[in-house]
Parts: sequence; C-alpha cells; structure tokens
Amino acid sequence: MTLQDLDLDVYLTPEDLAAGLRTDARTGLSASPKWLPPKYFYDARGSELFEEITRLPEYYPTRAERSILAERAPAIARITGAKTLIELGSGSSEKTRLLLDALREHGTLGSFTPLDVSESALRHALDDLHRDYPDLHLHGIVADFVNHLEVLPETGTRLVAFLGGTIGNFTPAERAPFLSALRDRLAPGEFLLLGADLVKSPAVLIPAYADAAGVTAEFNRNVLRVLNRELGATFDPSRFAHVALWDEANEWIEMRLRSAVPQTVRLEALDLDITFGRGEELRTEVSAKFRRDGLTAELAAAGFAVRDWWTDREDRFALTLAAAV
Ligand code: SAH
Ligand code: TRP
Repeated sequence: MTLQDLDLDVYLTPEDLAAGLRTDARTGLSASPKWLPPKYFYDARGSELFEEITRLPEYYPTRAERSILAERAPAIARITGAKTLIELGSGSSEKTRLLLDALREHGTLGSFTPLDVSESALRHALDDLHRDYPDLHLHGIVADFVNHLEVLPETGTRLVAFLGGTIGNFTPAERAPFLSALRDRLAPGEFLLLGADLVKSPAVLIPAYADAAGVTAEFNRNVLRVLNRELGATFDPSRFAHVALWDEANEWIEMRLRSAVPQTVRLEALDLDITFGRGEELRTEVSAKFRRDGLTAELAAAGFAVRDWWTDREDRFALTLAAAV
C-alpha cells in the first residue's frame, strides 16, 4: 500500500477547515480580549512542531503518558477486550502502538481508526503504521472531533483513546458537551481511555509550555502563519511574543501571543483590519490540568464510570479507563 491508496475518509476538507477559520478568526479577533481556537495550529508544519515539542526535555506529558501505557497496556487489553481501537486527535499515534501491541497480543484487535484534523499528520501516521502492522485493518478519518463524532465506526467492541492531555485544550464549558456526545456514540460497556495532565507546581508546568529552545514559541506563532496563508493576512510573527502563564483559579496553562508593538494587521480574505495595542494579547490555547475527583465527576456527569485511574511514578499525568454506563 502507498500513500495514495490508504484507507482514509475525509469529512473535513481543507476548504471546510478554511471556512471554519474565516468564521472563527472574524469572531475571535474582533472580540475583547482577542482569541483563536486551537485546532488551527495543526497544519503540516504545526503537526511537525508538536512532535518536536513531545521530545523536549521540559515537555514531560508525553513521556509520563508513555510510561503509564507501557505498564498498563496489557491490563487495558484484558479489561476492554477491544476489537476496534479508535483514537481521537491521534497525531503521530506513536504511543498508541503500545495499545496496538497489547491488543494484538491479547488476540482481539481487528481494526484501528485514528481520527485527526491534520490530514498530513494522519497520512504520515498511517503510512508508518501500515509498514509496521501490515496485517492490521487501518482506517483513517480526517475530521473534527467536536463536530463529526457520528462518523466513528459502529462495529466491534470499541475502545476510544483520547491521549496527550488534549482533553485539557477544551474549556470546562466545552468539555461537558464533548464528553456527553462521545458517550452517546458508545454502547454500555464500551470504553474510553483518557489521558489527562495533572495539577502540579507552576515551576514544572510553565517550562513545559515555554521551553528554553523556543519550540513551543514557534508552535504558538505558527497559527499566525496559518492565518497569513489561509486568509491573506499580514501578521509578522516576529512582532508577537510567546506567553505561557498558569491561571491558578482555572487551573489551566494559558498560551497567548503578545503584540510587541502597536500594529494593524490586515486579513484580506475577511476585508478586515485588526489593531493590536502594545502588549495586547491574543489567547491561542488553554491546557487545563486535572484532579482525580474533578475529572471523575465530569466523566460521571457524561455517563462514564471510571474503572481505573493510573498515574506515572511521579504523579504527573493520569490515564483513566472509563466505561460507558
Ligand atoms: N494524541 C497525540 C497528539 C496530541 S496533540 C499525542 O498524544 O501526542 C493534539 C492532536 O489533536 C493534534 O494531532 C491535532 O491535530 C488534533 N486536533 C486538535 N483539535 C482537533 C479537533 N477539533 N478535531 C480533531 N483533531 C484535533
Ligand atoms: N495537548 C497538548 C497540551 O495541552 C497540546 C500542546 C502542547 C500545546 N504544547 C502546546 C498547545 C503549546 C498549544 C501550545 O499539552
């Protein structure tokens, strides 16, 4: 199989994504304070930068989650007996290989369906997976996990993996409807495997989102390049500083881009001029951090019963296995 004939369904075309970006950019950049939704970070370059983030010494979540998966994947396979593994926001699906191996070993695995907004990341992942798992039925879906959950495969005993702490990129108000919608797609007894980053000292959290090498800063500014390309905007990324701060009250990391100078940016495709004051900030992302009680309650409210709660050795990150009730 080659890149061209991969089993890939596209529910979100580049045109759909661009149309969403037009609406969201008009709304978010005209608001006060200014904001943008996070899904637009992940064009081909953004997805590559994120992979680079996962290898940074300061970015502990990937390594912590991988260590939990390495230890618990056999139990996850035994408990779920999953035939169909689905992964939301799958990116490179690197860590997911630990689940694929355990499910294969257990003898139940029939197919793997990664879903992501980033077609380039998904194609790379599928190509690599096909090489290493030639007998596995792979079915990629390019879609938005907020708007397209109805396209998930309906067959097999399903396990939905949502890893990387991506659940934290929703605000609490967005999380509840997302979890409920996901629960509604599942039958009682099917499972959600959720990776969540935990509340900890800002001395550990902040560097994970403001690394010394400046990769996260590049990732953050990449959204401006996406706006330039997709909307004919005139952002000069070097005039925006990367800001990562810990919001103690909301228990989330907030990523912002701070205008270094007073400036006006033109968004040609929207026939819109946006003015930034010196030091004015644009919110690009939140990354919420969780506590066991809070997350268990949120899952219960959505109709999931937490069966297992596993953390890494240093209690930095949690992997929770929850059954649809
Ligand atoms: N699961 C991987 C990647 C996490 S980064 C890991 O644990 O390392 C978040 C991923 O979610 C990216 O691949 C991004 O493209 C994807 N993503 C972000 N918003 C999305 C959305 N609304 N719908 C589908 N995928 C989304
Ligand atoms: N899901 C990742 C997280 O919240 C995404 C991420 C990591 C991210 N670093 C980032 C998003 C920097 C925006 C900016 O940890």
